[in-house]
Amino acid sequence: MEGSISKQFLRLFLVVLTINMVINSSSATRPVAASRTSTDFIKKSCSSTTYPTLCFSSLASQASAIQTSPKLLAHAALNVTLAMAKTTSVMMVQLSKSSGMKTGEVEAMQDCLEELSDSVDELRRSIAEMGQINSSNYKLTMSDIQTWVSAALTDETTCSDGFDGKTKNGKVVRESILNISHLTSNALALINRYASLHG
Ligand SMILES: *[C@@H]1O[C@H](CO)[C@@H](O)[C@H](O)[C@H]1NC(C)=O
Ligand SMILES: *[C@@H]1O[C@H](CO)[C@@H](O)[C@H](O)[C@H]1NC(C)=O
Ligand SMILES: *[C@@H]1O[C@H](CO)[C@@H](O)[C@H](O)[C@H]1NC(C)=O
Repeated sequence: MEGSISKQFLRLFLVVLTINMVINSSSATRPVAASRTSTDFIKKSCSSTTYPTLCFSSLASQASAIQTSPKLLAHAALNVTLAMAKTTSVMMVQLSKSSGMKTGEVEAMQDCLEELSDSVDELRRSIAEMGQINSSNYKLTMSDIQTWVSAALTDETTCSDGFDGKTKNGKVVRESILNISHLTSNALALINRYASLHG
């Protein structure tokens, strides 16, 4: 009696398990097929940037938003760059308040925070313009975006140039800013790519 109940229970359990597996596999197959096309597109587009590995690793998770659109790819690259710049900015503010900053570093840090804040601003503006670009304002808006992103890149370079990278703090700053400037450089390359495709 007890044996047959547990057998029935086991059978029911196996049926439920099988149904779950079927549901899971069918819902997983289609997005994977669709995102493979997008993933290939991202990889191919990233190969024309200066830092293709970073480009792909920073954008692969956005495949479903990017699909195979050069415009959405450039937009996503700007989004990722801005997010990273904001995070780094917060981290740098904390670092600047910590003890153990050398005399020369305090000033470099103040300058750097200002440059980083300008860079965040410029990235924000370029993202706002990206959202407004259309066929009638294309040339002017694209040129604005390229100007803002180039300015962001310059500000980041100026910041990291202020540190010689020999001290512990200097190394941390340079590495974090270098990362952002690589993301920015990639975003600019993807923007230029989008611009060239538009003709
Ligand atoms: C970029 O970020 C904005 C604001 O968070 C979001 O609405 C938009 O969908 C993002 N675009 C892409 C392509 O990731
Ligand atoms: C293009 O965008 C501008 C704002 O940047 C807007 O004034 C204009 O009406 C838009 N044109 C078209 C064709 O959508
Ligand atoms: C550099 O950026 C990538 C992509 O956003 C991130 O995953 C990585 O942690 C960053 N590395 C450093 C050292 O900040």
